[in-house]
Amino acid sequence: MNAGSILILPGDGIGPEVMAEVRRIISWYGDKRGLEFEVSEDLVGGAAYDVHGVPLADETMEKAQGVDAVLLGAVGGPKYDDLDFSVKPERGLLRLRKEMDLYANLRPAQCFDALADFSSLKREVVAGLDIMIVRELTSGVYFGEPRGIFEENGERVGINTQRYTESEIARVARSAFELARKRGNKVCSMEKANVMESGILWREVVQKVHDEEYPDVELSHMYADAGGMQLTRWPKQFDVIVTDNLFGDLLSDVAAMLTGSLGMLPSASLGAPMANGRPKALYEPVHGSAPDITGQGKANPIACILSFAMALRYSFDQGEEADRLEKAVEKVLADGVRTPDLLNEEGKTPASTRDMGDAILAALD
Ligand code: NAI
Ligand code: MG
Repeated sequence: MNAGSILILPGDGIGPEVMAEVRRIISWYGDKRGLEFEVSEDLVGGAAYDVHGVPLADETMEKAQGVDAVLLGAVGGPKYDDLDFSVKPERGLLRLRKEMDLYANLRPAQCFDALADFSSLKREVVAGLDIMIVRELTSGVYFGEPRGIFEENGERVGINTQRYTESEIARVARSAFELARKRGNKVCSMEKANVMESGILWREVVQKVHDEEYPDVELSHMYADAGGMQLTRWPKQFDVIVTDNLFGDLLSDVAAMLTGSLGMLPSASLGAPMANGRPKALYEPVHGSAPDITGQGKANPIACILSFAMALRYSFDQGEEADRLEKAVEKVLADGVRTPDLLNEEGKTPASTRDMGDAILAALD
C-alpha cells in the first residue's frame, strides 16, 4: 500500500551517512511490511548553499509543504562558519520550522536497558525510562517584542519579552494531550505561574483545554524549577511534559542527558493538521553534523533511525511498526553492538555506521 510521502534532506557532515541507513530501513518496510513510502530527496544547509547559494531553495520549501513528513539529517560545518548570517546552514532549518509553523517540538528521553550505565544517574533511576517533553517552539521569550539592547538612564538595558496568546498555549496543549492518549495518558504542564503572568495564563489555558476536550487524561501542574529537580530525582514519575519554549529548551536538554549519548536522541516537530488529517511534520536527530567524525564511518545512525520511528508513529499512524523498529534497536544494543560513541570499555571492537544499520536490519528480519 502507498503509506505516504517522505522528503529526505540529508544535509551536511554525518547527515548523509546516518540518512543512508534510514533509507535502507525505509526500503525494508516496503519490501517486508508492504509499506511503500513515496520517497524524494533534496538539499538543505551547506549542501544547498553550495548548489543554490541559499541554505534552502524555494522549490525545496514547496516540496516540504506538500509531503506527509520531512526527514532531516543535520546541517552546518566549519566550511560554512564564515558565511553571512542570512545564508548560514542553520537558516535552512529555521526556515523549514517557521514556514511549516511547527509549534510542537517532541523530545523523547528513553533509556534503553543496555545503555543504563551510560547515564550520569543511577541505573535504577533511568533504566526503562520513557518520557516525552513537548516544547512550544514558535513563540515565547525567543520571539516576543519588545526585544533589544536599549539606553536607559545612562546605561544599557537588555530586553526580551515572554509573550503567549491563549491560542498558542491551547494548540501545544492539544498536541501534548493527543500524545498522552497514545502513551501513558498523563500530562504534566510546567511554567512559573508563581512569578510570571504568562505562566498564570499558561496554567489556566492548559487546564481549560484539559477540562473541555481531554478530561480522560491525567493532568498535573508543576513549577518549572521544581520540574527540573524532579526530572533528575525520579524521572519515571512523568509521561508527557508540556512546557514553553525557554523552559522546554532547558528541560529537554536535561532530560536528554539522563539517557546517555547524543547519537541516540531523536526529535519531531509538529504543526497543524493538513487536509489529510496528518500534522505538518519534521523529524530529525538532536545531534549536529559532527565534523570531527565525518567520513569515517563512526557516526551512530540510531538517533536518525529513531526519528524515522517517530515518523511512523506520529505521521503515518503505524504505532506497531514504530514499536517493531524500536525493539530492533533495543535488541541490537542488548546484543552489544556499539558505535564508538557507545563504548566506554577498552578492548571492544566498535561497529561502523553501516554495521549498526546491518545489525538493525537483521534484527528487524
Ligand atoms: P554535534 O552534535 O555535531 O557534535 C557534538 C559531539 O557529539 C561531537 O563530538 C560529535 O562527534 C558527537 N556526535 C554527534 N552526533 C553523533 C552521532 N550520531 N554519532 C556519534 N557521535 C556523534 O555538535 P557540534 O559539534 O556543536 O556542532 C557541529 C556542527 O553541527 C556545527 O556546524 C553546528 O552548527 C551544527 N549543528 C547542527 C544541528 C542541526 O542540524 N540540528 C544541531 C547542532 C549543531
Ligand atoms: Mg538547547
